[in-house]
Amino acid sequence: MSIIEMKEVSRSYSAGDNEILALDGANLVLEQGDFIVILGPSGAGKSTMLNLFGGLDSPTSGKIIVDGTDISTLDSDQLAEYRASKVGFIFQFYNLIPTLTIYENVALVKDICKDHLDANEVLRQVGLEGHGNKFPSQLSGGEQQRASIARALAKSPQIILCDEPTGALDSDTGVMILRILQNMTREHGKTVIIVTHNQNIARMADVVVRVKNGHIQSCERRGNPLSVDEVDW
Ligand SMILES: Nc1ncnc2c1ncn2[C@@H]1O[C@H](COP(=O)(O)OP(=O)(O)O)[C@@H](O)[C@H]1O
Ligand SMILES: [Mg+2]
Repeated sequence: MSIIEMKEVSRSYSAGDNEILALDGANLVLEQGDFIVILGPSGAGKSTMLNLFGGLDSPTSGKIIVDGTDISTLDSDQLAEYRASKVGFIFQFYNLIPTLTIYENVALVKDICKDHLDANEVLRQVGLEGHGNKFPSQLSGGEQQRASIARALAKSPQIILCDEPTGALDSDTGVMILRILQNMTREHGKTVIIVTHNQNIARMADVVVRVKNGHIQSCERRGNPLSVDEVDW
């Protein structure tokens, strides 16, 4: 079943007299339950694409159909509801609120999402039981990223969007994060979409999408995706 479909999607930005076409007539179909890796050089349009999938931004033209709904037609309230229930976000620099404890950062979700999961339960899932009373600054980078995954999972979203989720982490810690994310597809049927320029992560992918200059260059299903422990990091 297709979960995300882009039809002739463009997103342009004006910069002074120039117009930057971050995405230029992109077409793509992604399937539910896949571990999807988006590869491409810096400036290719990867984050733009992820932000569009997440309802953080809207296309200049074209349609983005998520689970049967064209989200490019939603008004701001409907988009807020979409972001609160359908998608979880994981960013390179975690984006935790520094003045709230880890438990509070995750439990905040209950204010925006009616079908939220219990904060302690998702903290346990990412191996952070016992850390709920700490503040983000008291955790390592890998622990903070696990907390941000817990926060994303607490919404029980169908789709998890990750922009360079291991970009700030050492290799071993990155592998731990990728294990949790791959498990979300294999054990929980989530769709996980990871933007990266780490080619190794693509070896774990069910589907690899290559982006360059605002164009989708290819979208290929891999025959034999490796589990995280099979990749030679
Ligand atoms: N808010 C913005 N305003 C102006 N230009 C932007 C904005 N966001 C992205 N761009 C430009 O769009 C292009 C694609 O950016 P981005 O999607 O962030 O690339 P990537 O994530 O692949 O590195 C780049 O040229 C970038 O400078
Ligand atoms: Mg980017």
